Amino acid sequence: MKQSPSTEFPTDNPKFRTLLQKNEQALQGGGADRVESQHAKGKLTARERLGFLLDPGSFQELDKLVVHRGTDFGIDQEKYLGDGVVTGFGTINNRLVYVYSQDFTVFGGSLSETHAEKICKIMDMAMKNGAPVIGLNDSGGARIQEGVNSLGGYADIFYRNTRASGVIPQLSAIMGPCAGGAVYSPAITDFVLMVEQTSYMFVTGPNVVKTVTQENVSSEELGGATAHSTKSGVTHFACANEIDCIEHLKKLLSYIPQNCEEEAPFVPYTSSGGETREALDTIVPDNPNQPYDMRDVIAGIADEDSFLEVHRDFAENIVVGFVRLGGRSVGVVGNQPAVMAGVLDIQSSVKAARFVRFCDSFNIPLLVLVDVPGFLPGTDQEWNGIITNGAKLLYAFSEATVPRVTVITRKAYGGAYDVMNSKHIGADLNFAWPSAEIAVMGAKGAAEIIFKRQIAAAEDPEAKLTEKMAEFTEKFANPYSAAERGFIDEVILPQETRSRLLRAFNMLENKVDTLPRKKHGNMPL
Ligand code: HXC
Repeated sequence: MKQSPSTEFPTDNPKFRTLLQKNEQALQGGGADRVESQHAKGKLTARERLGFLLDPGSFQELDKLVVHRGTDFGIDQEKYLGDGVVTGFGTINNRLVYVYSQDFTVFGGSLSETHAEKICKIMDMAMKNGAPVIGLNDSGGARIQEGVNSLGGYADIFYRNTRASGVIPQLSAIMGPCAGGAVYSPAITDFVLMVEQTSYMFVTGPNVVKTVTQENVSSEELGGATAHSTKSGVTHFACANEIDCIEHLKKLLSYIPQNCEEEAPFVPYTSSGGETREALDTIVPDNPNQPYDMRDVIAGIADEDSFLEVHRDFAENIVVGFVRLGGRSVGVVGNQPAVMAGVLDIQSSVKAARFVRFCDSFNIPLLVLVDVPGFLPGTDQEWNGIITNGAKLLYAFSEATVPRVTVITRKAYGGAYDVMNSKHIGADLNFAWPSAEIAVMGAKGAAEIIFKRQIAAAEDPEAKLTEKMAEFTEKFANPYSAAERGFIDEVILPQETRSRLLRAFNMLENKVDTLPRKKHGNMPL
């Protein structure tokens, strides 16, 4: 007997009805109860997240009807269409992206062989078609019932993450559990975003930690967004909630190109005429030991409200992030005199090095703002490898072929002068403000060393020290010896910085620079 079309499936064609029923079933994930439980935890479902992320109507889902092939522990009796991950492509602000979104309502979003195959499929497509991959992670890890098949699936993803690194941008949002070896896929990607309170990442969880080290620690303390955005630096953005996280993903994408062959999107910019920024003239205090916030310099230079800070709460003695300058996306690295006097240490060197390499991979020009008293002394730094880690930043700048412009606002002392995008390591244009001090070290340290004997022999050693410090300051604590040698291209008034930079990056627009032929360098890891 012919079935009459229902309102739910408005077709009387039985074959069509089968399809519509299957599609409908796929949308249910692990069922209403589990969806309710997901919502009760303050989390959105995999599909709801994609709904907020992608342009309306742009999502093309793939592999909606895939099911797992597991047979052990009775899992063959329980199958869900899609197998715990929603994959496909769509657009964000009209730009193509590939996405996967793990569905915690199906076996806790755990990764089976087929779940991994779905992710690998979109990664392969993204590589062929040159577009970013965004992963929304919410998973209990390897599908325990599938054993090594699941481990193999993870490795297939890690392998692709690595091959895709530097070819297409890869962004990872952590919106639930991410534990064990599963953390290594996000770790290889370019940016990791976490949601406060509802997401965590760790290699071994609190129970194992307790057994092995006797430490009592909660999941949140051990691997929550706060831990990873302040202590480990694993995450670049800690987001207040899932919507905030999705907004961060979209904003971040707006600064970066589709792939390594393209430029970042240019935002139409019309100059109001004057690009002079008088406010910059009064940021650096007269007293060279007084701090100021390098973010004020960045805000003074950049297009209005365009600064997106990366790693805001980690290694705060260096500031990194994206700005727009006349509509052009530019990566900024700036020492932060407001924190530890802007000294370079292990964490800040690694933070900046990774950012520089990202920008260089994806053709984003670099602006470097320098106020650095040197590298942090101490056994902690030496024994933990400030030599190797500081070298990472030196290496990252030296190998970068994108346009690179430096502005020295105040101190550029010692090895840190060389490291912070000096002319000698390939910067294209180097400016300095009149407040710049380009020297081997600060006046006090220098006077104490080179005039040690005179100071000791003096009737009033303090007065002698002050006199010698003044002599040193007169000679070296300024930008002019460097300018005399051409190490600084121009000494400029702070208010002129923006116009100089606009001109500089325009001039460098078609820069071509290549590295010597090699398989790859051997960065000091
Ligand atoms: C299969 C899993 C699962 C997994 C969760 N589930 N994790 N199924 N494999 N790995 C299922 C549960 O059985 C449950 O099914 C549903 O998902 C929700 O799980 P709950 O435990 O009820 O949720 P919750 O209380 O929120 O706890 C979430 C959790 C916990 C913390 C993630 O489920 C958990 O600890 N899971 C195991 C984590 C784990 O050890 N994974 C393997 C890690 S090793 P029902 O039917 O009840 O809804 C690993 C290595 C990767 O991942 C290595 C790569 C190299």
